[in-house]
Amino acid sequence: MITVNINGQDQALDVEPDTPLLWALRDVVGLTGTKFGCGIAQCGACTVHVDGQAMRSCVLPVSAIGGRSVTTIEAVGKSPAGQKVQQAWLDIEVVQCGYCQSGQIMSAAALIQHIPNPSDADIDAAMSGNICRCGTYARVREAIKLAATGHCAASRTIPVGPPPTPPADGEKAA
Ligand code: FES
Ligand code: FES
Repeated sequence: MITVNINGQDQALDVEPDTPLLWALRDVVGLTGTKFGCGIAQCGACTVHVDGQAMRSCVLPVSAIGGRSVTTIEAVGKSPAGQKVQQAWLDIEVVQCGYCQSGQIMSAAALIQHIPNPSDADIDAAMSGNICRCGTYARVREAIKLAATGHCAASRTIPVGPPPTPPADGEKAA
């Protein structure tokens, strides 16, 4: 039995010491907001905070956590940084399919926590390990800037043009 503090509560986990934290979170504790993507620390879907640091839970054995505290997507909104990031995600409408997004938010919240007004280089360094197959990278960047500064980037303004002209009768649609 290994006790780990998760989202502010001590959880006694009946697992082998080398069990990855991701498995314990999802299958033992029932916190399924943290996602399995690659299982080899390459995609970021499983990102959690361990004492405020973004870490890949798929390769972190529960025995390595020790007295540190784990925070998952279910509780990240309790911190000021996490709250700002989640609100910015909603305001920018970052999410597409959503699968990568809990990991993206956890990495972004850790970034804002440590660097309140990150530069583009800071964002690149913090977020480069979070893969999004839907390609939401531009909106992720914009949401991080909104969370940090309270302002949207100018690129948010999407020009609205006239609707496309329907093909004339008999004309083959492209
Ligand atoms: S599932 Fe952990 S980094 Fe991909
Ligand atoms: S929103 Fe679909 S994988 Fe990122």
